[in-house]
Amino acid sequence: MTDLTTAIFAASTVEAIGTVIALLAVVAVLVYAAFNVRAGRKEVGSELELAANLKPYLNDDELETKKLDRALTAGLAGLVLVGVGLPAYWLGEPGRHEGAEEQFASVFESRGEELYTEGAQCNACHGPEGVGGVASHTILDADNEFVAQVNWESPALDTVLLRYDRDEVYYILEYGRPYSPMPAWGEGGGGPLTEQQLENLIDYMASIQVTSEESKDAVESQLRAQLELGEDADIDYSDLATGEALFNLGQDNGFAGGAYSCGRCHTRGWSINADSAAPETADLDPYVDYEDGSGGYGPSLQGGIIPRQFANVEELAEFLHVGAERGVPYGLNGLSGDGMMPGFGDNPNTEEAEDGMMTMEMIEAIARYVESLGEDD
Ligand code: HEC
Ligand code: HEC
Repeated sequence: MTDLTTAIFAASTVEAIGTVIALLAVVAVLVYAAFNVRAGRKEVGSELELAANLKPYLNDDELETKKLDRALTAGLAGLVLVGVGLPAYWLGEPGRHEGAEEQFASVFESRGEELYTEGAQCNACHGPEGVGGVASHTILDADNEFVAQVNWESPALDTVLLRYDRDEVYYILEYGRPYSPMPAWGEGGGGPLTEQQLENLIDYMASIQVTSEESKDAVESQLRAQLELGEDADIDYSDLATGEALFNLGQDNGFAGGAYSCGRCHTRGWSINADSAAPETADLDPYVDYEDGSGGYGPSLQGGIIPRQFANVEELAEFLHVGAERGVPYGLNGLSGDGMMPGFGDNPNTEEAEDGMMTMEMIEAIARYVESLGEDD
């Protein structure tokens, strides 16, 4: 019985109502059966006396008043039930659909959350609720000899759907980032999770996303902190130092695991925290301290990306705004491989414009900084 009560109380409204109706129906059948059996007993041995066709029936008066009225009333009640009840039920149908969809969505989300915190333990690296964190990473040299154990910044995931669409996130989960601690989780990359589990993880991530406003505010307050500006001081977006701070946002203090930065993909070793190296005496020179934008997972941005790839700062900024799409050309002669260059100004999952991680002002500041990279090379 306890199982049944939990089933009723823990279920959705629709399920609860259904269960109660089913229970009432069962009770009604039992009562009917009991009455029938009792009524039946009386007849035993007295069939002749009681046989229905031998009993006198109602006279005409009675038949045409009470009996007829009762039958008509019952008919009317039936009609009302069908005429009003069915449309009313039909009216509620969209609501029931919505309820069912919501219920599915919340089931998918909670399955994804369980994978995130327990099954796949994404939180060990990406932090609780995807706020960003660090992963332990072993550096091996060219001969596969151990060099050091280091901390590698793991980007926040509570903004991932502001910069990538669902398919792109799926691709990342499926194949991982082989040069980094991020493992492949899907079948295609030799990982352990099913397509359904990856989708559930994305559903969970979708449920923890910050809004575009929150993201822009967070960037602004980080920027103030890094440029040592007061709360009301104006940020000078035309200053190259502003663009530089944005390009490297979170490198010094681990803010959001570098999720808002460019350096984590375009500067080799950017995500490695050299101070965390064990043993401390390890020689990390070949692995860290590369120049900004000298190339990593993403291509080098040095030595005149304008006019090599973009005619001017506006075109570069426009590219940073929307990012790349898999297999689609960009700039003067670019062709995106896997569409992994994220867009920072526009959320690809909505129709709205300007609802990404950063404002156009911020993006233009970065574009001017990128234009200046490696000029003196
Ligand atoms: C061992 C640590 C580790 C685990 C476990 C891990 N990740 Fe990652 N993940 C990383 C690191 C590090 C990166 C960034 C790689 C880089 O520097 O480019 C990353 C990148 C990502 C990205 C791309 C973000 C971006 O904007 O580039 C997504 C999405 C992601 N992880 C989701 C997940 C999910 C979901 C799980 C659990 C199924 C998971 N990760 C488990 C370390 C980890
Ligand atoms: C998650 C990794 C990642 C991040 C973060 C990232 N990029 Fe990229 N970027 C790439 C990849 C990969 C490409 C290559 C194009 C492709 O395959 O989509 C690229 C391409 C580019 C290009 C074109 C280069 C060329 O020569 O064609 C520019 C410019 C660029 N990124 C600038 C930036 C800036 C500025 C930021 C920060 C606002 C940034 N990227 C953040 C991965 C990244």
